[in-house]
Amino acid sequence: MDVTATSRQSFRASHRVRNISNSATKEMAIIAARIGGCVSLGQGVPSFVTPPHIIEAVRTVLVEDPSSGKYSLQTGMPALRNRIARYLLDEKRITVDPDSEICVTVGGMEALLATVLTVVDEGDEVILPTPTYASYIEQVQLAGGIPIFVPLTENWGLDLEAIRGAVTPKTRAIMLCNPGNPTGTVFSDEETIALCKLAVSHDFVVITDEAYDYIVYEGGMPFSPLSVEEFRRNVISIYSLSKKYALTGWRVGWVAAAQGWMAQIMKVHDATAICAPTPSQFAALAALDGDQSCVAEMREKLLARKKRCCARLDKLNRYFSYVAPKGAFYVMAKYLFSDADSHEIAIRLLEEAKVITIPGGAFGEGGEGHLRISFGGELEVIDEAFDRIEQWLEKTI
Ligand SMILES: Cc1ncc(COP(=O)(O)O)c(C=O)c1O
Repeated sequence: MDVTATSRQSFRASHRVRNISNSATKEMAIIAARIGGCVSLGQGVPSFVTPPHIIEAVRTVLVEDPSSGKYSLQTGMPALRNRIARYLLDEKRITVDPDSEICVTVGGMEALLATVLTVVDEGDEVILPTPTYASYIEQVQLAGGIPIFVPLTENWGLDLEAIRGAVTPKTRAIMLCNPGNPTGTVFSDEETIALCKLAVSHDFVVITDEAYDYIVYEGGMPFSPLSVEEFRRNVISIYSLSKKYALTGWRVGWVAAAQGWMAQIMKVHDATAICAPTPSQFAALAALDGDQSCVAEMREKLLARKKRCCARLDKLNRYFSYVAPKGAFYVMAKYLFSDADSHEIAIRLLEEAKVITIPGGAFGEGGEGHLRISFGGELEVIDEAFDRIEQWLEKTI
């Protein structure tokens, strides 16, 4: 028997899946675990833990209500959808029907994938302003779509002319991360409105990822175009409770869209997950209903960490330049000391300085030549990482 042929046959994964790659974040974490003793500027998770009032609310409901461990309705518990609808109206002036225009999902990630699978057909083009959130690339490819990378401007703004030039009859969507991972950019209302007008006139969809909407360091939350009646057919919006309430492991978020879209997205969600974890939906309800001071406290701490991170980068301005982040907890640091690609630099930093960063090239073409630095970690972690980077630069550059 030809064993090789048999095993090759049994592991023949689909083209769609073989074509996508593991995330650079994961690769760096695996290498770091092998090396040992590394300090991380790579993590996409702030150091905070789930607030006690949320844990307590879930503990109580699990003890007192036996149905809290069962499936909920596919779109999520009615009480949570009603609460989300109220939140969207109060905070973002978005009017949605809680019964037919909200679906609670397994984190923002499932919401994104269900949306991409719903909108994108084989061979369709999806515009990704780059640097982009790396998982969008995989999700578009998984759906059989073609990512079309359009670089952001030098200050990480939307290059509307370039986007206009990239639109073709095959364009189905653009994915807009606002505030941006990995750039920390916050697009202006004008940029978002102009983009949505373009989407309406060419009939493509703007998928807004608002996972970091509450982390803005100047002004209020960014503008949500789903709040505008004329954009409703062309906008699908994704939300996450992961970072806002330190709920990353609970896996809960939602997608909001006009009923016509939601009826389709729901089918993917049902086929994928049936429903978001019910205990996590109770956590989401407690988070939205509860005292919001935990959010303000986390944002204050992130602001202090951002300042420390920028101050440390400023000290190294012979080696790095950067655009100060206006939101989220990432900064793209452009390295000025080497022409090597970002993967090579990130690996060297990891192996020689024992500092984890994420190679900018993982975020699409516009990210090459940069390292993504997260300031989600404690101040001591940020300082330790920069101490090591400084020593490494002095020794090797
Ligand atoms: C831009 C962006 N969107 C979505 C997600 C997914 O978040 P969730 O934990 O809700 O799936 C992340 C997580 O890091 C993210 O950075």
